[in-house]
Amino acid sequence: MSKKVTKAIFPVAGLGTRFLPATKSVPKEIMTLVDRPLVQYAIDEARAAGIKEFIFVTSRGKSALEDYFDQAPLLEQELRRKGKTEMLEVLKSTNMESGAIAYIRQHRALGLGHAVWCARRLIGNEPFAVMLPDDVIAAEKPCLQQMVEAYAETGGNMVAAMEVPPEQASSYGVLDVSEDRGAIVSVKGMVEKPKREDAPSNLAVIGRYILAPSVLNNLNRMKSGAGGEIQLTDAIAQDIGTKTKVYGYRFRGQRFDCGSKAGFLQATVAFALARDDLRDDLSRYLTEIAQLDKAAQ
Ligand code: UTP
Repeated sequence: MSKKVTKAIFPVAGLGTRFLPATKSVPKEIMTLVDRPLVQYAIDEARAAGIKEFIFVTSRGKSALEDYFDQAPLLEQELRRKGKTEMLEVLKSTNMESGAIAYIRQHRALGLGHAVWCARRLIGNEPFAVMLPDDVIAAEKPCLQQMVEAYAETGGNMVAAMEVPPEQASSYGVLDVSEDRGAIVSVKGMVEKPKREDAPSNLAVIGRYILAPSVLNNLNRMKSGAGGEIQLTDAIAQDIGTKTKVYGYRFRGQRFDCGSKAGFLQATVAFALARDDLRDDLSRYLTEIAQLDKAAQ
């Protein structure tokens, strides 16, 4: 089987309850870090990794996401008339070639594994990426690109992994490692949201995956796991011990959990401080409020 990865699934059908009431009408993936929605960061990362087909698993109330990738002729015309060529360029990165993007519905939020399974007919018999747009990763070389390069050597299934403090392991899928080769680790087990004392390591799975089509077959037979949801990690774990091996990849970069309020706020500050047009004002403001905070204590 070819190891070239050209398709990516973006599961965005979750309820986004941690951001209510905003997510009552705004999809979480459209919320912005500075001036770009979360989904734009994910698409840029996918493009850098050579992805050509973008499959969104959506649900009710996500139409803003579909509109975001459409052409906006009136807006473009107006920008052209006003000579705002820079803004026109910015808009170009949001346009998708016809046929490159597909939307599949997940009718009930039955879990991440179920959302991926909903896209099975568009994947066929080839490896594919899964990207969760609420995990935003700042990296010199985009995370999925790092993984695609490592995957060309390993094949099998690959999940992005990062070290987490023991008290946080219960929020993640955690890897049981059989061989640690530095960036790449071989995996002999995966536990979804283990209790602190049951976590087999401190290596947690985060929202980037390159998966073999066998995972879709495993999902065909899946029943719900932790939290009553159909878990993607359980379906990947079923490949362990078969000829389709499972690897963890310690990516280089900083991951922000933009599915949580604290993570989202941290990412907002970090991305704003990385911008030439915002850095000075924002860092001055942050210093000022830090001093006021200290004085008040
Ligand atoms: P989360 O666990 O962050 O859930 O899902 P959520 O619904 O987005 O947010 P909260 O916890 O209610 O605040 C991780 C990813 O999996 C997708 C979500 O859209 C998100 O990208 N997902 C989750 C689905 O597409 N379908 C599901 O049934 C569950």
